[in-house]
Formats: sequence, structure tokens, C-alpha cells
Amino acid sequence: MTKHLHIKTFGCQMNERDSEIMEQLLAQCGYVPAAEAAEADLIILNTCSIRAKAEQKFFSLLGSLRQEKRRRPGLRIAVAGCVAQQEGERIFERMPHVDIVIGTQQIWRLPDMLQRLERKESRREIACGLDKHFVIPPFQKLLRKADAPQSCRKFVTIMQGCDNWCAYCVVPSTRGREISRLVADILEEAALLVSQGVQEITLLGQNVNSYGTTNPVAERPVSFAELLRMTAAVPGLRRLRFTTSNPQDLSIELMQCFRDLPNLCPHFHLPVQAGSNAVLRRMHRKYTRELYLDKVAELRSFCPNIALSTDVIVGFPGETEEDFEQTMSLLETVRFHGSFSFKYSDRPGTRSADFPDKVDEQVKSQRLERFQARQDEISLERNQEFLGKSVEVMVEGRSESGVQGRTGSNHIVHFTGPDALQPGDIIMVT
Ligand code: 5AD
Ligand code: SF4
Repeated sequence: MTKHLHIKTFGCQMNERDSEIMEQLLAQCGYVPAAEAAEADLIILNTCSIRAKAEQKFFSLLGSLRQEKRRRPGLRIAVAGCVAQQEGERIFERMPHVDIVIGTQQIWRLPDMLQRLERKESRREIACGLDKHFVIPPFQKLLRKADAPQSCRKFVTIMQGCDNWCAYCVVPSTRGREISRLVADILEEAALLVSQGVQEITLLGQNVNSYGTTNPVAERPVSFAELLRMTAAVPGLRRLRFTTSNPQDLSIELMQCFRDLPNLCPHFHLPVQAGSNAVLRRMHRKYTRELYLDKVAELRSFCPNIALSTDVIVGFPGETEEDFEQTMSLLETVRFHGSFSFKYSDRPGTRSADFPDKVDEQVKSQRLERFQARQDEISLERNQEFLGKSVEVMVEGRSESGVQGRTGSNHIVHFTGPDALQPGDIIMVT
């Protein structure tokens, strides 16, 4: 009998990829996707704990599923991702209607766990181990028959985890130590995707710049820039991207890739977090404002039209008005094309959760509003630089106003075009 699966994904692209893998794994056990949770036999919440708000959103959704479970006792509820990793058994205590808790390195166990529940060999299942010698399975290869890609853009995981231990960040504890994937697995997966019609690949990792430097699973260490060159050379690959990078590890070798590789998209997401050296130091970021600005200038010397985006935290403990002005002035200097900005929130087990001088919520809100308002103005001015220009756009789908696509610089474009245009088509748009 066909069973229906509904996955709700919170958080980052790592989670999106993990959700895709879980869907593929479960397709092999007869699960087909259900559009609505109400139609599902199995609901997976793939969670994020990066900020308090993301975690609260998940817990309120999970709470609301209690009724659904009461109405349909056969319904299975699984919690995956970073909150699962962080909370483990505590999720069952707080939310007894949960059947499965599965950590970030354990998703491949899901079919077995479900089977044990179905055979009534257990009442609940949990797997939350984090192993520093974990080997990322070559999922795409294993799942190749089940999955002919529907999208023209796909993620390929190249590394997991993070060893940076920024003072505010849960990721080192929810995703474990940095682990690089085998070069051969990555290239094989990229080639397979391209052979299935994928046009654009994004190499994924919490910290892609340190690919191969920690726990390299290769005969010889391969740098991220080398890996990028090898992936760019996969025959037929039209567009290549990557995320996320750390400023201190951004090498000249990597910058040169933007000059040399025609299919590497001219967009760089480079989280700065704060513009004040005092705050950066307390955040345990391993660069200064000056180093960050130097890297940006160097990057632009290799690729003058590169679009830059960033992440910013406002109201980190101890952030003064002057510190915040430094963030605003960094925004003026770099003029990011876009940014993601957040109010600082305490996360369990992080160092900054114990820092004194927490910034008042209202002050945080005011700072965030000011930052975002200025960013919006700059983004608009940046967008206006495109007026009248012809740019290469990859079609992604239809939108209310016609066709939706994306530029190499990662700008979403809406335009009118013939009905014959298909996702993956690459055309020039003025
Ligand atoms: N509070 C607020 N924002 C955070 N981020 C990470 N941890 C926190 C936190 N405790 C932001 C950073 C990071 C992005 C993914 O989330 O800006 O780059
Ligand atoms: Fe959220 Fe970070 Fe986990 Fe991604 S790795 S899901 S952003 S906590």
C-alpha cells in the first residue's frame, strides 16, 4: 500500500538537502510525497536551531500536531535536524506524540527505524550519535534509480560540520566536527546530476573554504579551490555556486577561480556578522574588519562585477552604539547586494549565552530595523545598476507575472517570455 510522506523543512540549505535525501530514502520504502500534512502517514519536521525564533517555530508546529496524532493514532511523527540533535530524548519528554528523533548524521537510518516501529519491535526510535570519523554516504549514487531530478538546480554536499566555534553558534554541536567528502564521490555525483539534466550545482558545506583541510578523506588533501576547478570541469555543467564561506579562509586561489572559471557564478556569500573589531573578537571570528575589507577588495579585483551578500547579527552581547555604527559603516563601504540580518539570540551550550551585557530587545529591534532599511535602499540602487542591461538568466519556473529566473549574480528576475520556455533554459533578458 502506498504511504504518504510530508516533510517540513526549517533552516538552511543543508537541511533542504537532507530533506531531499530522506524523501529519496523513503521513496524506496514506498512513500510518496503528500502536499498536506493532513494527508500524510508520516510527517517529518526537519528542524533548525540556529536562532531561538527558528526553534520556537518548530516547537509550536510540533505542538499543534498533537491533535492530529490524537485523531489519527496511526500517524508517525519524526523530528530530524539540529533541534533533534540538540535536544535528543528531551523531545519525547516534552512532546510524547513524537515517534522518531533522528540526528544530523543519522538520516540514513530512517527506513530501519520506521520498520522497527511498524513491526512493533519498539515504541519509539532515537538515533542522535555524532561521530568525528563519520563518512558522508554517497547518497546520490545509492539512490540514483529512485531519483530522476525534477529541478534544474541541485545541491551537492561536500563537507559537513564546523570547527570554528563562533561564540554565538550552535552548529559545531548540532552538526559535529568538520568532515570532508571524498573528491571522487563529489565529482561522480555532480556528473550524474548533469547527465540527468541538472544545469546548476551548488556545492554545500557549513564552511566550504576549509574543505579538505580537516579530516580529509582523500589520498592527498585537495583544497576547496582545486575541488571547485574540478567540479567546474564536469562536462555540460552550466552553472556552479557554493555556500557558505568563512572570510579568514578565503584564499587568493579561490578568488582566482572567479576570474578563470566561466561557469562559476559571479556571486559570493561572505558572512561578516559585525563591523566592529571588538565585537568580532568576542564573537570569536578569526578576522578583523580590515581583513574582511581587504578580502572584498581583492575579490573584486579578480571579478569586478561579483555580487556580494552577507549575514549580520545585531545586538551581540556588549554591542555598543559605536560598535553598531561600525556595522552600518561597513555596509556603506561594501554596499552588499543583499544581506540576511538577525537579532542576536542566546543558544544552548554556546559561549555567548553566558556573556554579560545582553542588549535590550528593543534596542536590538531598532538596530535591525535601521540596518535592514539601509540595506533595502542599497539593494535597490544595486538592482538599478542592471537597468537596460542584457543579462543571462536561467529559467526556474512560472510566476504570476510570467517567467521567473535567476541571474548568475543570484538575482531573481521576473519577465515575460514564450510559453515554450522550460526550467533550465538559459537565455538573455534585458
Ligand atoms: N543569534 C542570531 N543570529 C545567529 N546566527 C547564528 N547564530 C546566531 C545567534 N545565536 C546567524 C549568523 C549566521 C546565520 C546563519 O545565522 O548570521 O551566519
Ligand atoms: Fe539551522 Fe545551522 Fe542546523 Fe542549518 S546547520 S539547520 S542553519 S542550525
